[in-house]
Order: sequence, then C-alpha cells, then structure tokens
Amino acid sequence: MPKLNEHYQNLKENYLFAEIARRVAAYQEAHPDQKVIRLGIGDVTRPLGARAIEGLHAGVEAMGSADTFMGYGPEQGYAFLREAISAYYARNGVSVDAEDIFISDGAKSDTGNISELFDVDNVILIPDPVYPVYVDSNIMGGKQIAYMAGNAENGFLPMPDASVHADIIYLCSPNNPTGAVYNKEQLKVWVDYAIANEAVILFDSAYEAFITDPELPRSIYAVEGAKRCAIEFCSLSKTAGFTGTRCGYCVVPRELTFTASNGTVMSLHAMWNRRQSTKFNGTSYIVQKGAEAVFSEEGMRQCQENISYYQENARVIADTLTKLGIRFFGGVHSPYIWFECPDGMESWAFFDYLLSNAQVVGTPGAGFGENGRNYFRLTSFGSRENTIEAMQRFEKLLAAV
Ligand code: MLT
Repeated sequence: MPKLNEHYQNLKENYLFAEIARRVAAYQEAHPDQKVIRLGIGDVTRPLGARAIEGLHAGVEAMGSADTFMGYGPEQGYAFLREAISAYYARNGVSVDAEDIFISDGAKSDTGNISELFDVDNVILIPDPVYPVYVDSNIMGGKQIAYMAGNAENGFLPMPDASVHADIIYLCSPNNPTGAVYNKEQLKVWVDYAIANEAVILFDSAYEAFITDPELPRSIYAVEGAKRCAIEFCSLSKTAGFTGTRCGYCVVPRELTFTASNGTVMSLHAMWNRRQSTKFNGTSYIVQKGAEAVFSEEGMRQCQENISYYQENARVIADTLTKLGIRFFGGVHSPYIWFECPDGMESWAFFDYLLSNAQVVGTPGAGFGENGRNYFRLTSFGSRENTIEAMQRFEKLLAAV
C-alpha cells in the first residue's frame, strides 16, 4: 500500500474557487431560469488585444511550415520573450536581466511550485488574507506557516516584526484580495528585513499593470537590494487577458545564493532552472509569440485599454458601496474591491445570501484567510452591462435591509 502525502488531510476539501463553482453550479441547477452574474473568480471577459492575436497567428503560421516549425523549446522560455519582458521592466524604470526570467504557464503554477526549493524546516510568513495558493501549496508540502495579519488598522499591509525571525516571506502587491499596495518605503523595510534575516521574499506582482500612481512600485526590484533577497512572480492573465491563453513569468536573480548545511553555496536560480528543466517542457511557442506581441509598446497600449475598462467597472462597484455606506478597500490600483459584509455577517453566509437573493456571485473573504471572515470580494473583470446590473441588484437588496 502506498504511503500517501497525508498533509492533504490538512487542506480544506476544495480549493476556494472550485468550492465557489460547485455552489454556483448547484444553485443554477436548482434555479435554471435565474440569470446568475459572476463577479467571483478574477476571470477576465474582454477579448485579447489585436497585437496579441497577431502574435498568436504568427506562431500558428510558423507551426504550419517545415522551415519555421518549432518542436520542444527551451524550458526557461524563448529568448525573444524573455528579452521583451526585460525591455518592459526597463520601460517601467526597473532593470531585470533577461537571463533571470523564466517563462511559465502562469503565476499560479510558479507561486505553488516554488515551495519545492525550500526545506520543511523554515519559518514561512504569509499574509492573511491573501491568495490561497501560497497557503495550500505549503500545506501540501507539510510546511509550518506563520500568518501576518492584514486588517483595516494596517491598511491590509502587514509589516515585519524585527523581533521575529523569518526565512521565507510571501508578499502580494497589489494585494489579492484586498487591493492594498505597498509603497517603496514599505517595500524597502521588507527588503532590509529579509537581508538582515537572510530570508527570501516571494513577491507576487500579478496585478502590477493596474497601478496608476507612478510613485507606487510595480516591481520589488524598484527597491534597492531586492535582487539579493527576492523572487518576483508575474502573469499575463490580468495584464493581457491571458487567463485562458496561459502565460506567466518569474524572475529569479542569480544574486540569490545561500550556504547549505554542508557548506556548499547553492543558487536559487540554478535550482529553479534544474526544477523547471526536469518537470516542465515550456510554454507553447504559439503562446509565447502572443506574449511577445503583448510586451510591444502597441500591445501594452491595447492591454491598457482593457484595464481602463475594468477600472471603470471598479468605479461602478465602488460608487454603489459608497452610496450604501459600506466600507471598502481596493478598486483603484487593483481589479478587486474588498468590503465589509453588511451587519457583520460571516462571509460564506453573505455569499449564500447574495447568491440566493440577488443571483450575484462574489468571493467570501474567509477563503483568503481568517482575517477575511467578515469581508467580501467583488471583481471588476465582468462586462460593463453585468457589473451595472449586479450592482443594481446589490443596491436593491441591501438598501432594503
Ligand atoms: C482570483 O480570483 O483570485 C484569481 O483569478 C485566481 C488566480 O489568479 O488564480
């Protein structure tokens, strides 16, 4: 009989968004005539930009001719895409070497898989509330997690406690689910703390393209010293609408080296390269051609049009909450609006209430951690029409309470 990874027993039965999908499917089956509006999972609805489509077509065309056909690609990603991403960083004022960039199918996989590089015997700090992949993937690996509370008092931006040692620190900015963004000074405190503790920061910047204030850092490498302590994860899912197309990347600087227990100096870059070339055969050439086009100036301008559309949806949601006197966070440098459940309701109870009475789906804050239990998240990634209709229903329901 195989001995199983019994740490799986410590997980909730379903991944957050699988549980939501399950509940919505059950509701829809029982009420087939109701129009359910989904503002739960952060899944985009706008079509890809014209440049991305051209890039994808170019990739498809290349596959159809013996002269240009591509087989297995480099596990790290094609140089053309790594260089395009490096140039994108440079346009945002940050220097990242193309050699340090690894292409993948998305930040979900990378933020989940990275934990394989670390032993079980580490102090792992994870904000609460936060994207559940960090927590679940560490639980799967039998790792112990120390949580850092994000709450209204600290603006959902936990800061380090200098008296507590950590080895691995997860940060997500703009934060999923709260929309809170660290400024440069705050990130500098984290970088200094990580260097002092010889810790590694795992920095998820999947929502960086939503930042509108040029003073706010879109990358942790905007902070001096970060290449000595941080790995950055990013994705085209939200930037370019690639949730279905699938492409992401992470930056593992070659400066990140640590001395192992036997005295050998180990490089996280070399380890990640070893891991990826063993377990991953790369993102498809076609998708990488589409991604390359996204990172052109014209491609990014087209992405920004879609982002502006979602930002207008966020304003529609925020206006409704303001009108109802509900306290909320986010929605400015982030596609997510995070608000207090009315009357102090528990978030799953509010989820059921909203689904049953307004046929609107959101995400219960408890799914992102204990500190989210009385909060709720709505995404601005819906269509304008559905967002307006959802908020009309929401207002009607809650104004009557
Ligand atoms: C979310 O809704 O939090 C995200 O869409 C999930 C993800 O990016 O995997």
